[in-house]
Amino acid sequence: MPSHPITTSMAPAPAAVIAIDGPAASGKSTIGHAVADRLGYLYYDSGLLYRALTWLALREGVNVDDGDALAALAARTPITVRPPTRADGRHSTVEVAGEDITWDVRRPEVDANVSNVARHPAVRAALIDQQRRGAADGRVVMVGRDIGTVVLPDAPLKVFLVASLEVRARRRYDEMIARGQPADYQSILADMRRRDEIDSLRAVAPLKAADDAVTVDTTGMSIDEVIDHIVALAMGAPTESRPLPGEVRAE
Ligand code: DC
Repeated sequence: MPSHPITTSMAPAPAAVIAIDGPAASGKSTIGHAVADRLGYLYYDSGLLYRALTWLALREGVNVDDGDALAALAARTPITVRPPTRADGRHSTVEVAGEDITWDVRRPEVDANVSNVARHPAVRAALIDQQRRGAADGRVVMVGRDIGTVVLPDAPLKVFLVASLEVRARRRYDEMIARGQPADYQSILADMRRRDEIDSLRAVAPLKAADDAVTVDTTGMSIDEVIDHIVALAMGAPTESRPLPGEVRAE
């Protein structure tokens, strides 16, 4: 006999760790941030580590094709990703050796080089512990490319977001225009296609869904629909929630 009475009225606890992976502009950041907000969880965008290292390499003149030199740079320079320190639209604050580079990591030269930096095994090895530490206390939504497959393979909920290349390029274009930045749809499309290829075909930790991930195709969905759906999944309701068009569930 258990020494404590068994209660059946406890509210279901949401999945403590939620891994969201997907290609560029699949909605990971917006959706991951909103899901974290709803659940009162930490939001952790792992792509920011790769972006910060890329920004640093470009500034220090380190060759983005030299994995060992990049890993050495990561080892000697503290890169920090933490909750926002300013209310200027950021979802996280990114610092390198104490310098706030949150907006610099979104610059086009970082976009153009980050996939190359992220493809090196030595770079990935240098950054993995930091990501795992970020999830060690639970109550976290971590977004990236290999969170469900490599960084947090035991995450109780893994979501893989997909959307057509054209829809993603259009979203990125609209975002840039909304921020008042110059944007050209065709070059965004071409750059995104190139990054998809590098991220998906690299030898180590390529972009792919974990075997037990729920794949959600957001092409025809509103952001709010996707957020509601992932929150429902997180509340442990995978069998109660209605599968959405484009959703493929692991057997
Ligand atoms: O999500 P993002 O566009 O900010 O990611 C930037 C780059 O970092 C992307 O080209 C792939 C890489 N990345 C990765 O390889 N693994 C992750 N977990 C997150 C990002």
